[in-house]
Parts: sequence; C-alpha cells; structure tokens
Amino acid sequence: MQHEIDVRTLQKFDEQELQGLSDVLIDCVEGGASVSFMWPMTRSKALAFWRDAAASVARGERIVLAACDSTGTIVGTAQVVFAQPENQPHRADIAKMLVHRRARRLGVGAALLAAAERHALSSGKTLLVLDTASPDAERLYARQGWQLCGRIPDYALMPDGALCATTVFYKSLRGP
Ligand SMILES: CC(C)(COP(=O)(O)OP(=O)(O)OC[C@H]1O[C@@H](n2cnc3c(N)ncnc32)[C@H](O)[C@@H]1OP(=O)(O)O)[C@@H](O)C(=O)NCCC(=O)NCCS
Repeated sequence: MQHEIDVRTLQKFDEQELQGLSDVLIDCVEGGASVSFMWPMTRSKALAFWRDAAASVARGERIVLAACDSTGTIVGTAQVVFAQPENQPHRADIAKMLVHRRARRLGVGAALLAAAERHALSSGKTLLVLDTASPDAERLYARQGWQLCGRIPDYALMPDGALCATTVFYKSLRGP
C-alpha cells in the first residue's frame, strides 16, 4: 500500500486541502487521540486549526505534509515545526502526526515520518523532538530509530477528559 501513497508538502492550502486535513483531524479526535482537542470535535475547530497552520507555513515557521491515496484524498498528515529560539537553530519538532482510521496499518504513518525527517534534514535540522500519548505512535517512532527519553504523567487530557501521560522522543539526524 505504501507505494500508492503520495506524501507532499502543502503550500497554499486550498479549500479542498483544508477540508481534507479537517476530515483527518476530526476522525483522529473522534477516535480518541489526544492531539490538543476535546470532544465534541467540530469542523469549525478543525478548520481554524488548519488555517492557523497555513498561516504559519506562509511565515516559513513549519512544513505541513499531506499523505494522499490514489484518488488524491488526504488520509494522513504530519508537521515539521521550525520556529525555535535563536539558540536552537538546528532543532525542529515533529507534530500532529495523524492518519485517518480507515488508512491505518498500511504504512502511511511510516511514510509521513520518513518524509518529515527528510524535509527537516534538507532544511538544515539535525535534531528532532516530539512527544506522544499514543502507544501506536510510540511503536512507530521506536521502529524508525527514535530514542525514548521518558514519560511525563498527567501531561494532558484525552478527548473525553481523562488525564493521560506523554512520552518524549528525540532523533539525531547527524551522521555517525
Ligand atoms: C500513530 C499513527 C499516526 C500511526 O499511523 P499508521 O499509518 O497506522 O502507521 P503505520 O501503518 O506506519 O504503522 C502502524 C502499524 O501497521 C503495521 N503495518 C504497516 N504497513 C503494514 C502493511 N502493509 N500490512 C500490515 N501491517 C502494516 C506497522 O508495522 C505497525 O504495526 P504495530 O502497530 O504493530 O507497530 C496512527 O495510529 C494515528 O493517527 N493515531 C491517532 C493520532 C495520534 O495519536 N497520533 C500521534 C500523535 S504524536
């Protein structure tokens, strides 16, 4: 399946892309992912989030990746966030790694993560950091060579209001 997935960077964010990204975000939150939003998840919250992300892309602060299936439908997304203090010019965060439930376990997450790492490196970033509340995501990051730093209990809320931990990972992209 992975070869049928096209991962690309989004630049202008047309209406179809905003709606497609919102479909993915809404599906993930409705599926119980702890990715900043609480239930009830709404399209207006999702669209506002992606419009902010588009403005941030336009300011050069981040890259937003979209994974599209063979029909061109967005089934997953991830971000490389560059905006960092001036003493961390070599670092970026990976954020909002999201795959629609109907496209999971097909390699989309792995393809997005590999693309995010490639874009970070080609932008001069050699240290990547992320945190996740998802055991599925933890396995993905560990499989792609990310180093687990530790777990912070009660870090955030699940969409239903229950407290959840987050697990912090990093990956150095410097060669040996
Ligand atoms: C975490 C997440 C992004 C993973 O996306 P994904 O597209 O399912 O990831 P992959 O397909 O690359 O890998 C998932 C599993 O499918 C397996 N897989 C990949 N391709 C496969 C294939 N062709 N056939 C069978 N299994 C396959 C992988 O080995 C992996 O197995 P594991 O769960 O036992 O470790 C997704 O679960 C998600 O969006 N979760 C909700 C949002 C969230 O919490 N995101 C994390 C924020 S940091």
